[in-house]
Amino acid sequence: MKRKMRILSLVLTALMVTGLGGCGSTDNSIESNAPQNSTVVNDQNTEADTDTAEASIAVETPQTEKETVEPEPGSENSDILVVYFSRTGEQYTVGVIDKGNTAIVAEMISEETGADLFEIIPEDDHYPMTYSELTDVAKQEQNNNARPAYAKDVPDLSQYSTIFIGAPVWWGDWPMIMYTFFENNVEGLSGKTLIPFSTHEGSGLSGFDKKLSSACPDATVLDGLAIRGNDCQNDQDSVRKKVSEWVTGLGY
Ligand SMILES: Cc1cc2nc3c(=O)[nH]c(=O)nc-3n(C[C@H](O)[C@H](O)[C@H](O)COP(=O)(O)O)c2cc1C
Repeated sequence: MKRKMRILSLVLTALMVTGLGGCGSTDNSIESNAPQNSTVVNDQNTEADTDTAEASIAVETPQTEKETVEPEPGSENSDILVVYFSRTGEQYTVGVIDKGNTAIVAEMISEETGADLFEIIPEDDHYPMTYSELTDVAKQEQNNNARPAYAKDVPDLSQYSTIFIGAPVWWGDWPMIMYTFFENNVEGLSGKTLIPFSTHEGSGLSGFDKKLSSACPDATVLDGLAIRGNDCQNDQDSVRKKVSEWVTGLGY
């Protein structure tokens, strides 16, 4: 009897150990998939906690081939160019988008002014398609004062007298890839009229104009336009009106 009890007790112990091991591994996988918190810089340039559901959705959308509008120098005899950087994938407050907020504004400016378009596309695109991961990579680039490379050749800038330059606000600043563009083209941009624009979720223009002036000291920088990213997806009539009034006010 004693022997039977001993065997039963051994079998029970073995079952408990196996069961706990399974629980442990399940816990780990939940932890590793846990939503990340992230931050956004608001109007006052203070950091606001943004660990919203939208900001932490796990998205497995693959990076799709981006549609790029190639500049066609001289095709419209335009002496105006719009240069922009913009992301698809998961973006703050708008979920997963297939056209970037800044891209939408850039195209509107082009339609209003007849400008050529040039999109800055990262070389060997390393930017994640989930919002919280993207904020981490962007923060790291900012901390390292990185100069991420872009993929395509910039069009000959000598034919343009005015260049609109736009990007999303990333951590209260231009995305670092824009500084790559400014520095690589500082000579081509000198003597030009540069007009910044941003899309954002609270930070406004975030000093884009002053930072552009510092990066391109021999250019004339005009007043910029800041547009809410959410409006680009959900209220395009009002965005178009703002863009139209702004470019008309600037004399274009
Ligand atoms: C990495 C990252 C950092 C951001 N930082 C800010 C910020 O500091 N201030 C702000 O108002 N919005 C911030 N946002 C929100 C974006 O500026 C906004 O969603 C923008 O419209 C995205 O434009 P896009 O679709 O052209 O990339 C950030 C978004 C990302 C992805």
